[in-house]
Amino acid sequence: MRSRRRYAVVGAGARAETFVRSLVTAHKEQAELVAFVDVNLKRIAAHNRWLGELGHPAVPAYHADDFARMLDEQRVDTVIVTSMDVTHERYIVGALDADRSVITEKPMTTTAESCTRILQAARRARERAAAAGIPAPTCAVAFNYRYNPTHVKVRELLASGAIGTIGSVHFEWLLDVRHGADYFRRWHRDAANSGGLLVHKSSHHFDLVNWWLSARPARVFAANRLFFYGAGRPHGYDRGYERAYGSPAAKGDPFALDLDRQPRMRELYLETEAEDGYIRDRNVFAPGATIDDDMAVLVQYDSGATMTYHLHAYAPWEGYRLMVNGSRGRLELEVVETAYVAPDAGAASADAGTIASLYPGHSGVENGWTKLTLHPFWQPPSTVEIPEATQEAHGGGDARLTADLFTGSALTVDPLGRRATEVDGALALLTGLAANASSAAGRPYDVAELVDPDLLKES
Ligand SMILES: NC(=O)c1ccc[n+]([C@@H]2O[C@H](COP(=O)([O-])OP(=O)(O)OC[C@H]3O[C@@H](n4cnc5c(N)ncnc54)[C@H](O)[C@@H]3O)[C@@H](O)[C@H]2O)c1
Repeated sequence: MRSRRRYAVVGAGARAETFVRSLVTAHKEQAELVAFVDVNLKRIAAHNRWLGELGHPAVPAYHADDFARMLDEQRVDTVIVTSMDVTHERYIVGALDADRSVITEKPMTTTAESCTRILQAARRARERAAAAGIPAPTCAVAFNYRYNPTHVKVRELLASGAIGTIGSVHFEWLLDVRHGADYFRRWHRDAANSGGLLVHKSSHHFDLVNWWLSARPARVFAANRLFFYGAGRPHGYDRGYERAYGSPAAKGDPFALDLDRQPRMRELYLETEAEDGYIRDRNVFAPGATIDDDMAVLVQYDSGATMTYHLHAYAPWEGYRLMVNGSRGRLELEVVETAYVAPDAGAASADAGTIASLYPGHSGVENGWTKLTLHPFWQPPSTVEIPEATQEAHGGGDARLTADLFTGSALTVDPLGRRATEVDGALALLTGLAANASSAAGRPYDVAELVDPDLLKES
């Protein structure tokens, strides 16, 4: 019998739970969780308690400084990186240089320089493996949106030529005043941690377009700004407190997050604060936000196609609209994830079973709908049914992604090309990085100005 692959999880925050639960339940025959790594050992302790609820023993806890020792002591095969974005590079490069495989959360990293170092490390690992005649370690980027049945259907339709050759894309993504606001309460509000939302969030969307069109971004122009959140806005929503916990001014504020009403969040963030000083529930209008909340982007792809893209993070509802114009017609997709935000949304989900289910993309009272339509020339439009579409986490993408990553199906053929490598991770990132650079410089940016194109050749 093939022995189980040994996985270590770096970054014991909210997202880690998706991978942990999948490892120790659905995929326990093929996979073994052997360690947690974090700068905050109390957060690891919370995860270890939650493992107990699943009937799994606690696993060894390592401080981030002991990452290299952990790899050897725990004989790790694959490192799962779910830490703060800016820290991904350290663990991806560290694992690849130690000839271990990596599964990393998006965004793969936050800057062009660190992206280059990751691509170089992957290349070095492949060269060492080739010289030794052994399989090379892999670097997978966990783009769960590629596994959402609605997104798969779009890929299938476009690849089948349903609307002919693609001329252009119009893509609008709305983050509502719960989910969008949340980026302004957390570490994400500092661009040095997250790269801003065009990197942190839009890397999902830019990856989807690369994948849907089988194209790569070439040139990007953007205009970004912080319009709604942050200090000193004239709209009058700011109640002047620093953080919600313990603040009378935050009571009844629809923008406040009530950690006290969410036991999992309380355990993961409030009760661990003394360790690292991280505050999870900042006022979204408190000073210090260096990311933007309203971004307009124009992309030219190597196929000749163009995309107009808009992300805004202060919408009354959450979801997206995609329009793809082709030589034989047009595809339109409307996904309303939440049709509105209930006023006490920051305090809702108190009885959620997992930390992951406290996040948007999960079922709630405000659930929306999905509508996919084909508009061929000279014919009435037709609605495309997506029977597999679900209200599960990320449209069911998480369960399908982890199944693909953990069951060894990565060794088999993937006709949809869903498995994303470090090159896909880089290409998804580069649209956002080029957009940020363009907005700052006030000129279009070529992707080739940011990362050496030679490093983006497929391995
Ligand atoms: N694909 C998705 O749908 C999805 C959803 C949520 C988050 N994510 C990604 O998962 C990652 C984690 O996000 P989260 O929401 O769990 O955030 P989080 O704040 O809950 O967790 C981040 C963890 O990283 C730890 N950390 C910080 N600095 C570290 C360091 N130097 N070394 C090791 N650990 C460190 C923190 O202590 C914390 O436990 C991010 O990269 C995010 O983009 C992806």
